[in-house]
Amino acid sequence: MSQVTNTVRFVLDGKIVEAQGARRTTTVLDYLREQLHRTGTKEGCAEGDCGACVVMVGSLNAAGQGVDYVPVNSCIQLLPTLDGKSVKTVESLKKPDGTLHPVQQAMVNCHGSQCGFCTPGIVMSLVNLVQLNPSPKRQDVSDALSGNLCRCTGYAPILDAAAKACSNKAALKLDDAGDVPLLKEIQRASTPTLSLEGDIIVQPVVRTRKGNEFVSPATLAEVADYLVKHPTSTLLAGSTEVGLQVNKQYSRPDHIVYLGNVAELKQVKDTVQAWHIGAVVSLTEVETLVSKAYPDFAEVLRRFGSPPIRSTATLAGNIANGSPIGDTMPCLMALGATLTLRRGDKTRTVSLDKFYTGQKQTVLQAGEFIEAVVLPKPQAGQVFRAHKVSKRFEQDISATCAAITYSLKAGKLSGVKLAYNGLAPSPCRAPKLEAVLEGKAPADVKASDLDAAITASFVARDGLRATWAYRSLVARNLVLDFIEEQTQQTTEVA
Ligand SMILES: Cc1cc2nc3c(=O)[nH]c(=O)nc-3n(C[C@H](O)[C@H](O)[C@H](O)COP(=O)(O)OP(=O)(O)OC[C@H]3O[C@@H](n4cnc5c(N)ncnc54)[C@H](O)[C@@H]3O)c2cc1C
Ligand code: FES
Ligand code: FES
Repeated sequence: MSQVTNTVRFVLDGKIVEAQGARRTTTVLDYLREQLHRTGTKEGCAEGDCGACVVMVGSLNAAGQGVDYVPVNSCIQLLPTLDGKSVKTVESLKKPDGTLHPVQQAMVNCHGSQCGFCTPGIVMSLVNLVQLNPSPKRQDVSDALSGNLCRCTGYAPILDAAAKACSNKAALKLDDAGDVPLLKEIQRASTPTLSLEGDIIVQPVVRTRKGNEFVSPATLAEVADYLVKHPTSTLLAGSTEVGLQVNKQYSRPDHIVYLGNVAELKQVKDTVQAWHIGAVVSLTEVETLVSKAYPDFAEVLRRFGSPPIRSTATLAGNIANGSPIGDTMPCLMALGATLTLRRGDKTRTVSLDKFYTGQKQTVLQAGEFIEAVVLPKPQAGQVFRAHKVSKRFEQDISATCAAITYSLKAGKLSGVKLAYNGLAPSPCRAPKLEAVLEGKAPADVKASDLDAAITASFVARDGLRATWAYRSLVARNLVLDFIEEQTQQTTEVA
């Protein structure tokens, strides 16, 4: 937990910054621009969409010898989340002798910038990419830039600049050796503070005169204890929703509990049957975790938001947020995922398909939170398919996303689990469609039966992103596509 009340301490280019008197909802972007005058970082949309505000945020690596960075949309991150971390902005890149980073120099040489508003964010996304992958393919570069909008240059010169920068591999890596000892100096204590009576005390990182506060517990016990005492607190994980509410709806929660420093919640426990994914495991990490076992799930995640969104956003946050178009839930429901919910020292297990009780309504009780998402591993013979339909390939919201699991027993569909987003007030299973499929040979499934089941299951509603006619047609065609491969195999055998 934070050792210094009301001071957010982070490392910026070889110096410890002590931010005092900040509000609990001050954004990283506002602090960088208004207090540190790092105006290279721009504000375009203030909602995580344009990438003009991308900076790199780093934590000490597991060995304690280097810094692991992720790209972050600073407009939707709250300053107190930086406590104990390292930040690099576009101003961090130029060497004292004036030499530009290879990415910056290549942007100049390849005419990768016109008005320049998007350029710092683009440079930071690229510099972050080459820290981990100094030889990216063109597709990797394009993926890394999927959250950076440029409205005047066009992307070809920017992609060329990335390729050119990587010809100077020796200079790509940021020199952050000086930051490591400073990160150790500001590391938070990993044991809870106890009162004389033995009660856990969670020290606030920020407390206002009115008693509102931002706390950053270091252990699960501290989180649970704090939430029992303050059940109306806002939990903060990746901040990709909460940050939006702060900027766009002027939300100012009284108590904010940041989960990002809780070691137990950062872990994935691997058992024979399942992965237990802690509540602050990022979507980028989940994408890597499921890439072999469930490639379609990984593809849905590759198209989720953008790299800076996925590097902070969490699986549990997506579930807890409960948006009707949340993308991970159809995959998780089809795979039979369950949630470990905790209140105080008691836990219970709830199946994800029983978690929602209405639009953005869940079974979570006051003071209860998601501790982990339990994702079953693939079973022999199990088929899993998923697909997200949206107007743009990435950084777009689903018209619908569907996912299915089944196996084939004597050529018949068996154990069918089918789930959607975008069709109902919350993501959900589709039992009437499952019943149409169960026990049938794939070739015998009729489109008209699926259409009838869709009509009987959902209330027809046109939405901003798609008409009902479109959504229901897509919902049916996705099922046909998901079983088509089996239809072909059955036909070939026959
Ligand atoms: C630009 C942009 C693009 C996006 N693209 C997509 C997309 O393609 N698909 C999609 O589905 N979503 C998308 N989102 C929405 C958002 O990124 C996701 O819902 C994300 O997974 C939320 O996770 P988080 O960790 O950032 O949550 P936070 O913002 O930290 O929290 C979200 C909510 O969950 C609660 N919460 C967090 N953790 C817990 C917990 N452990 N227990 C109980 N409650 C908890 C918080 O109190 C809050 O109410 C996008 C958002 C933005 C800004
Ligand atoms: S300002 Fe647009 S993503 Fe942050
Ligand atoms: S250079 Fe103008 S928006 Fe990209």
